[in-house]
Amino acid sequence: MWRNSFLVKIRIAAAIAVVALCLVPWFDRGAFAEELGLSQSVIEQAFPTASKCKRCHERVFEEWDTSPLARSIHSPAFRASLDAFLSSPSGKDKALCFRCHAPHVREFSDRVQLFINQAKAGDPSLDGVACAQCHLIKQVDRTKQPPEPKYDIESKTVYGPYKDSVQNRAHQSMELGLFQKSDLCLNCHQSVPSAAGLGKTNDLLGNWDQSKAVKSGKECQTCHMPEQVGESANGEKKRKTANHTFPGRIGKLRQEAAKLDVTTKIEGEKTTITVKVQSLVPHNLPTTHPAWASVVLDLDIKGKNLKTVFADKRIYGRIYQDARGEKTSFDFEAVKVLEDTVLKPEEMRVETFTFPTPQDTKTFDVEATLSYAPITGPAPFLQRVEAESSKGSQDPIFQPIEIVKYAENIAVSK
Ligand code: HEC
Ligand code: HEC
Ligand code: HEC
Ligand code: HEC
Ligand code: HEC
Repeated sequence: MWRNSFLVKIRIAAAIAVVALCLVPWFDRGAFAEELGLSQSVIEQAFPTASKCKRCHERVFEEWDTSPLARSIHSPAFRASLDAFLSSPSGKDKALCFRCHAPHVREFSDRVQLFINQAKAGDPSLDGVACAQCHLIKQVDRTKQPPEPKYDIESKTVYGPYKDSVQNRAHQSMELGLFQKSDLCLNCHQSVPSAAGLGKTNDLLGNWDQSKAVKSGKECQTCHMPEQVGESANGEKKRKTANHTFPGRIGKLRQEAAKLDVTTKIEGEKTTITVKVQSLVPHNLPTTHPAWASVVLDLDIKGKNLKTVFADKRIYGRIYQDARGEKTSFDFEAVKVLEDTVLKPEEMRVETFTFPTPQDTKTFDVEATLSYAPITGPAPFLQRVEAESSKGSQDPIFQPIEIVKYAENIAVSK
C-alpha cells in the first residue's frame, strides 16, 4: 500500500517534471504562436475572410479569385517591393503599402507586423483586397489625399448596390450609392503617397473626371465591373450582377484601350511612317503605380525574308528620380518626375518614324504593336522578383501583354 502510493508519488513527480520540462519551451512557443493566431482571429472577426462569403456567394468568389485583387499581397513583385520599401529611408511608415494592398490594416495599425509576416510568407492566409475590405466601406472621404475609406466593423452590415437584397442568416445588407460610384475605387486608385518634393501625392489617373466617358456618366465600375446577369447568392433568382474579375490588363477590356492608325509614305530613298495612337481610356494609360508601369509602342519593319530592317519604339510612362539624383524604379523613393510620357485621358499621340526605304525587295511589312511592358528595375531587384515567384523567370510579369497590333504589307514602287 505504502510502497504503492510512494511509487505512484514518484511516478507522478517524474511525470510532472517531464511534462514541465517539455512544457517550458513548448509553452513559450505556443504562447507566441497563439498570440499571433489570436491577433489574426481578432482581425478576421472584424473582416471575415473571402472563404466565409464563398459559402453563399460562389459565383462572386470564383470571379474575384481570378482577379489581380485576390493576389494583392501575394504577387512576387509586391513582396519584393515591400522588402525594398521596408529597408528604404521611407520605410518607417510600415503600414503604408498595406493601406491599399490589405486595407484592414487601417483598423489594426498595431498589428502591422502580422501583415508584413503574412505577405512575406508568400502564401498568406490573411486576405489582401477581398470581399469585406470593400463591402464594409461605409464612406470615402475625398477631401483627403489619397482619399480615405471609413469602415463599419461594428454593425455587422454588408454594404452593396441592392435596394431589395434578399434576407439571409449571415449578414444584414444595406444599399449604398457609393458602390456604383468611382469614389469607392478612388481611395486606392487615385494617387499614392510620395516622398517629399513630388508634391503631396503622386497622381495616377490624370484628369479622368474631365474625360468624355466620365462626363457621359461612366464610372470605374461601368468598364471594370461590367454588368451581367446571374445569381448574386447561391440559389437566389437571377438578377443584374457585377463582374468581379476586375478586367484590366487581363481580360477583353484591354482590346478597348487604344486604336492605331498607321500611314506609310515612301519618298525615294526615304520612308516615313506616322502612327496615330488614340487612347480610348478615360484616365492615364498606363496608371503610373508601380513606377515601372509602362506601355510601349513597337515599330518593326520587315524586308526580304521577313528580316527586320528597321525597329524603333516609344515608351509611355514616368521616369522618377530619387534623393541621390538617380533614376529609380520605386515611386516610394521618388522626389522628382524626370520625364512623363503617359497617354493622358483619351489623348491622341502622333509618332513619326523615318528610315531608309528597303532596297532589295518589292514589298515590306509594317508592324506596329502597343503593349504593356514587362517589369523593369535594377538587376538585384528583378532577381528577387524571380526568386519570389513559383514560376521563376517564366512568371508572366516578365512578359509583355499585347494591347493592339497593326500589320500591313507595303509595295515599294519603282
Ligand atoms: C482597398 C484598395 C482598393 C480598392 C477600394 C479598389 N482597388 Fe482595384 N486594385 C487594388 C490593388 C492593390 C490592385 C493591384 C493588385 C495586384 O495586382 O497586386 C488593384 C487592381 C485593380 C485592377 C487590375 C489592374 C490591372 O493592372 O489589370 C482593376 C481593373 C481594379 N483594381 C479596379 C478597381 C475598381 C473598378 C474598383 C472600385 C469598384 C477598385 N479597383 C477598388 C486596390 C483597390
Ligand atoms: C493609395 C493606394 C496604394 C498604396 C499606398 C500602394 N499601392 Fe501598390 N497598388 C495600388 C493599386 C491600385 C495597384 C494596381 C495598379 C494598376 O494595376 O494599375 C497597385 C499595384 C502595385 C504593384 C503591381 C501589382 C503587383 O502586385 O505586382 C506593386 C508591385 C505594388 N503596387 C507595390 C506597392 C508597394 C511596395 C507599396 C508601398 C510602398 C504600395 N504598392 C503602396 C495601390 C496602392
Ligand atoms: C474592389 C472592391 C470589391 C471587392 C474586392 C469585392 N466587391 Fe463585391 N461589389 C463591389 C462593387 C463596387 C459592387 C457593385 C457594382 C455595381 O453594381 O456596379 C459589388 C457588388 C457585389 C454584390 C452584388 C452584385 C453581384 O455581383 O452579385 C455581391 C453579392 C458582392 N459584391 C459580393 C462580393 C464578394 C462575396 C466578394 C469577395 C469574393 C466581393 N464582393 C469582392 C466591390 C467589391
Ligand atoms: C448564409 C449565406 C451568406 C453568407 C455566408 C454571405 N452572404 Fe452575402 N448575401 C446572401 C444573400 C442570400 C444575399 C441576397 C442576394 C440577392 O438579393 O440577390 C446577399 C447579399 C449580399 C450583398 C448585396 C447587398 C446589397 O444590399 O447590395 C453583398 C455585398 C454581400 N452579400 C456580401 C457578402 C460578404 C462580403 C460576405 C462575407 C463576409 C457574405 N455576403 C456572406 C447570403 C450570404
Ligand atoms: C470607359 C471605360 C473606362 C472607365 C470609365 C475607366 N476605365 Fe480604367 N481602363 C479602361 C481601359 C480600356 C483600360 C486599358 C485596358 C486595361 O488594361 O484594362 C483601363 C485600364 C485600367 C487599369 C489598369 C491598367 C493600367 O494602366 O495600369 C486600372 C487600374 C484602371 N483602369 C482603373 C480605373 C479606375 C480606378 C477608374 C475610375 C476612376 C477607371 N479605370 C475608369 C477603361 C475604363
